[in-house]
Amino acid sequence: MALLDIITYPNDFLLQPTREVENIDGQLQQLIEDMAETMYAAPGVGLAANQVGNPNRILVFDEMSDEEKRQYEVIINPKLIESEGELISENEGCLSVPEFRSDVKRSARVLVEGVDRRGKPMRMEAEGFRAVVLQHEIDHLDGKLFIDRISSLKRQLYKRRVKKQQKIA
Ligand code: NI
Repeated sequence: MALLDIITYPNDFLLQPTREVENIDGQLQQLIEDMAETMYAAPGVGLAANQVGNPNRILVFDEMSDEEKRQYEVIINPKLIESEGELISENEGCLSVPEFRSDVKRSARVLVEGVDRRGKPMRMEAEGFRAVVLQHEIDHLDGKLFIDRISSLKRQLYKRRVKKQQKIA
């Protein structure tokens, strides 16, 4: 297993939609293991393949984020089928958007379909924090970041901060 580098904003790769997986082979299994390892090490509760520079539509998550008791889920080619209700995801953050957090409006319940790591069709219903994590990771796979879902004023403040830091670096 290997730890992968996590790409951060403003890297353009994060803004490109991922592509559907057609072949689930050994290489892909390795990628999934490495993504999980990277997520726990960060530590984070979810990771999308494009966050580690891979263009495939794959997400891993474990909203418990307990390194001792790893029980992560994998969804390949996840699709948001239904969403209902509303909640405020408080202080949402992202491994690709370091040192920034914001409240984000999210759906309270979602239904996601995809295939599991053996290629078997699956569907997952989730609510609360688990639903938030799924929406956040599927956004990633669609080339979207959580800062795209906050007020433009807050987003501009963050973008300006990043630009300033880049000048210093
Ligand atoms: Ni994220």
